[in-house]
Amino acid sequence: MGEERKIPAHVAIIMDGNGRWAKKRGLPRTAGHKKGAEVVEQILEDADHMGIRYLTVYAFSTENWQRPALEVKTLMNLLRAYMRSSQEKCAKNNVCVRVIGDRSALDEDLQEAIAELEEKTAKNTGIHFQIAINYGGRDEILRAVKRIAGEAESGTLSARNLTQEDIAARLDTHDLPDPDLLIRTCGEQRISNFLLWQCAYAEFYFTDVAWPDFTKEELERAIDAYNHRERRYGGLVTE
Ligand code: IPE
Ligand code: IPE
Ligand code: MG
Repeated sequence: MGEERKIPAHVAIIMDGNGRWAKKRGLPRTAGHKKGAEVVEQILEDADHMGIRYLTVYAFSTENWQRPALEVKTLMNLLRAYMRSSQEKCAKNNVCVRVIGDRSALDEDLQEAIAELEEKTAKNTGIHFQIAINYGGRDEILRAVKRIAGEAESGTLSARNLTQEDIAARLDTHDLPDPDLLIRTCGEQRISNFLLWQCAYAEFYFTDVAWPDFTKEELERAIDAYNHRERRYGGLVTE
C-alpha cells in the first residue's frame, strides 16, 4: 500500500463568502469581491505547484444577476480586468484558460476579451483553469438538450441510441475530466447549481473560511481530507 498523498486531478471551488467577509470588516461587498479576485490568482498558482491539473472556479452563477446592479457591474469589471491583464502571466506559467457558462449574455467587449485570452492560452500545456461565468448546471444541461434535440431533428444523431457520453460531450466541460474534489468556502453546504452533472462522484469539502481568507494551507487541508476519503463509485472496495 503506497502511503503517498494523492493529488486530485480536478479541483472545483465554489468561492463563497466575499460579501460576509467585507461586511465583517465594515467594508462594501464589492471590497470582498476585489480581495476574492486576488485570492483566486494566488490559489491558481498554488494549485499548479501542488500538481493539480484542472482547477474550475465558480465566479458568477445564472442566479447572480438578481444581485444589485452595482455589485453585478463590479463582478463583471473584475472579470474583464482579469481577461485583459493575465495574458503574460498565463504565458509565463503555461496556464490554459477557458470560460464555461453561457457567455452570450455578457457584454460584447467582455466576450471578446474572453475569446482572446482563451485563444492566446489554448495551446498551453500546464494547469487548465476554467472560470464559470453566467454558469448554472441546469442551464448547461438545458443547452445540451437543445443541441441534442436539434441534431436528432436533423437526423445527425439517433435519439433512441443516446448515451451518457453523448450528453457529456455537449456540456461546456466536454473535454475535461469530472471533478474529484469540490470545495465550498464560508460555511454553506450546498451546490448552488454548480457542475450538477459532473459532480456525480466528486468528494465534497466544506470549510467555514470565507473565500478572501482562503490560503494555500486551506487548500492543503482540503486535499488531506480528500486523502482520507474512500471512493467507491457504488461498488465495493477491494483490499
Ligand atoms: C461569492 O461571494 C462570490 C459570488 C457569488 C459572486 P458572495 O458574494 O456570495 O458572498 P456572501 O455569500 O454574500 O458572503
Ligand atoms: C454560488 O454562491 C455562486 C458563486 C460562488 C459564484 P451564491 O452565494 O450565489 O450561492 P447561494 O445563493 O448562497 O446559494
Ligand atoms: Mg454567497
